[in-house]
Amino acid sequence: MGTGDGVAGQWGGTDVHFGEDGGRLTYGSYLRLPQLLDQQHLESDPPAHDELLFITIHQVYELWFKQVLHELTASRDAMLAGELWLAEHLLRRVHTIERVQTQQVDILETMTPQDFGEFRHRLSPASGFQSVQFREIEFLSGAKDPSFVRRFRGLTSIEQERLRQRLEEPTLWDAYLEVLRKAGFDTDTEDAIRHALRKVAGDRSQYAAIWELAEALLQHDELAAAWRARHVVMVERMIGTKPGTGGSSGANYLRSRLDLRYYPLLWNLRTAL
Ligand code: HEM
Repeated sequence: MGTGDGVAGQWGGTDVHFGEDGGRLTYGSYLRLPQLLDQQHLESDPPAHDELLFITIHQVYELWFKQVLHELTASRDAMLAGELWLAEHLLRRVHTIERVQTQQVDILETMTPQDFGEFRHRLSPASGFQSVQFREIEFLSGAKDPSFVRRFRGLTSIEQERLRQRLEEPTLWDAYLEVLRKAGFDTDTEDAIRHALRKVAGDRSQYAAIWELAEALLQHDELAAAWRARHVVMVERMIGTKPGTGGSSGANYLRSRLDLRYYPLLWNLRTAL
């Protein structure tokens, strides 16, 4: 958006200044910038230089998580409605965001362990482990695990409700099975699903949209795994084998989650091809 003065005349001779039509919206008011830019409050005193980076990067993650949830929910609903092209289109957007999220770890690694140490002791027991949106993404993707809800400390009732709802509603995998059923496949048992997946993979001209959708789900799964792997290596670089601020064993706990896959049957399919 430009500034008003002199631009209007140059661009068409009206009296309305660009960006000031009706005087209702400005860049800052539309994006709620006064509120957004006032949400970075340091815990360190005197202020540690790198704490602003630490807060900013987490807030940016949470904004992307919000967008990813928006897209994954719509993708799931598109599958349930039989709009396969839309479901795939939205998943591809999610992939792009997920790649950016993994790259963002590079920015955090410009912080040294010594500089992190200046304020880390002030953060406990807060931890990324408590990210409600991160857990919502896992649940919606297919990895529902109610024990996380019990292990969360300090959840607001709204956050509890969000997680409870995600545990109840269909996952992306549930929606994909519905797509298979609508295409005439039996999905009652794991063997039946394996059979359906092999049929789809074996006749891509007939099942092009269903195959591409499975590939888009697998890509989402692979990118989530890539983030987990990137995060744990960064954590080891930053705090070694110290326990996490959230009270877990730290890198050990994070390594225990590296094998998580949302769609094991899509991975198993590879062996059968
Ligand atoms: C200096 C940087 C960071 C360190 C040292 C760090 C460390 C850790 C540790 C030790 C855990 C295990 C739980 C605990 O006991 O606290 C954890 C979990 C987690 N962190 Fe980080 N983290 C960092 C940055 C980030 C960033 C930028 C994000 C982005 C949102 C993030 C998201 C998460 C999530 C979602 C979990 C839960 C993972 C799971 O349960 O599988 N972390 N982190």
